[in-house]
Amino acid sequence: MCGIVGYVGDRSAQGVVIDGLRRLEYRGYDSAGIALIADGRSGARGDQQGKLAVDKRAGKLANLEKAIADTPLPASTTGIGHTRWATHGGPTDGNAHPHVGRTGRVAVVHNGIIENFAELRASLEADGHEFASQTDTEVAAHLLEREVVGGADLTIAMQKVCSVLEGAFTFVAIDAEDPSRVVAARRNSPLVVGLGEGESFLGSDVAAFIEHTREALELDQDQVVTITREGATVTNFDGTPAEGRRFHVDWDLAAAEKDGHDWFMRKEILEQPRAVADSLLGRRTPSGSLHLDEMRLDDDELREVTKIIIIAAGTSFYAGMVAKYAIEHWCRISVEVELASEFRYRDPILDNSTLVVAISQSGETADTLQAIRHARSQRSKVLAICNTNGSTIPRESDAVIYTHAGPEIGVASTKGYVTQLVACYLLALYLAQVKGTMYGDEIDGVMTQLEAMPAAVSKVLETAPQVYDLAREYADRRAFLFLGRHAGYPVALEGALKLKELAYLHAEGFAAGELKHGPIALVEEGLPIWCIVPPRGRDFLHDKMRSGIMEVRARGARTIALVEEGDDSVDSVSDTIIRLPKVPVLLQPLVAVVPLQLFACQLATELGYDVDQPRNLAKSVTVE
Ligand code: AGP
Repeated sequence: MCGIVGYVGDRSAQGVVIDGLRRLEYRGYDSAGIALIADGRSGARGDQQGKLAVDKRAGKLANLEKAIADTPLPASTTGIGHTRWATHGGPTDGNAHPHVGRTGRVAVVHNGIIENFAELRASLEADGHEFASQTDTEVAAHLLEREVVGGADLTIAMQKVCSVLEGAFTFVAIDAEDPSRVVAARRNSPLVVGLGEGESFLGSDVAAFIEHTREALELDQDQVVTITREGATVTNFDGTPAEGRRFHVDWDLAAAEKDGHDWFMRKEILEQPRAVADSLLGRRTPSGSLHLDEMRLDDDELREVTKIIIIAAGTSFYAGMVAKYAIEHWCRISVEVELASEFRYRDPILDNSTLVVAISQSGETADTLQAIRHARSQRSKVLAICNTNGSTIPRESDAVIYTHAGPEIGVASTKGYVTQLVACYLLALYLAQVKGTMYGDEIDGVMTQLEAMPAAVSKVLETAPQVYDLAREYADRRAFLFLGRHAGYPVALEGALKLKELAYLHAEGFAAGELKHGPIALVEEGLPIWCIVPPRGRDFLHDKMRSGIMEVRARGARTIALVEEGDDSVDSVSDTIIRLPKVPVLLQPLVAVVPLQLFACQLATELGYDVDQPRNLAKSVTVE
């Protein structure tokens, strides 16, 4: 989704903005642009002091950088930049941000959607305004400029304009006649302020400015922030003063770099043992009981919970499916798992005895956010499982379990997913503790098993060379199937999603028991099928899975079995065996998913695709 950067200080704004945009590239985008206020020291474009200089290009940031190298921008210490993921209007130079007002005095960049832009545009056109793009954003540029030309300063202009806009948005704007400030606003869209010495920053997230400052300011909804060299001033849209929440950024720059790997995704897969360990840190009180990050629900309220609905999208949804197995088994509470995009449209039955659990790595997924808002409007309590501190979903929830995976840059979720699984297990155990459905020593026992998982994930990572060989062997195939049962079924779905996202291949995951109800018709000579074999602890499942493998192999499939150590029962019916460490059946997804992640990453690499930024996808999907 769009990346936004703003800067005012003493450095070259061009350098700060372009570097910030590069740090935000992981969000996914299809064009990039920059606007600066010329300070009159130099310039190859005939720019004069107090004039805007704008350049914007479709495609990757490199296109913009080349354009700037060919025709340099003027010296400037105040600027804004943007990487756009197209919504209104295709990914063209003209639709790229920044957009400027009628006289070219105000430039604005925007993330989100202005829902009432068509009416506003029609009314501006009736007043003689002409538009250069198909975007909703340009309307905001014209409205802002009309206010400043009418005498308002940019802060007041932003307050006024935001008050008439409907939808979700982050804006960052500059006024050519006031280089001392950059003004931004947010409603249901991400924005963070960075506070340096004699300089200030704006970003879609802290990655935009983390190399310059670690002091940051988080805004609430419907607020305007004005940054100057001296700091930041926050108001509500109605102009009343407000205060942001200051925080120190713990993530260091190295954590947002690739550590010498070809892809962030590969680095993030390899970071999973650490991520799982971090997500388990500090969960037990000195007395041995479990506690969660931000629990604004008391135990009495949780004891009243009779039903849980988990809502999420994509990979997070598959983590939710695993959570269902754990919560129902350990807590005996019925759990529904629902796609966030479908949830509020089916008139779900919700009341104050329903706990809604929203799982989101980014904390900004619009479908999930709207779903939790609907749940809260029906008096249900919402607990968020999220990786992004200060993002909107946890802020709007009654309780939060942060997954503590650190920044996940690759668009395909990996360490985000395994830490979501850990958080789901923790939630299940916490509910079991509160509801008394497990004894303290049983909970301790599972915690001990969980604490062994970082080592188990490290062990399964040792299969990487074998998995990479397989990716090379199967690089010419156009279709793959994935079979699982019980907690292995969502893992099959996740393995298939990874291949679709990264290698653009037809890949489907199935519950192995469903084979004979249709999918077996897909099986033909040479079709590779990944089979996630349940641990022996559930022998009836294990044996049924073995029968499934035999059925597909008899029809010519190439079977790749993920099997726990010491289990040689499927060796004779498998073309390839990949050994998983021995773990309890409910925790098996934590290890079984790893070879599937490695396989997708390597296969996409073999095919020459951009693993970190797959086509058509964005890291954070902030529109419905
Ligand atoms: C994961 O690999 C995907 N790119 C995608 O399915 C993702 O999990 C989904 O968009 C949900 O994102 P969230 O966890 O940030 O809410």
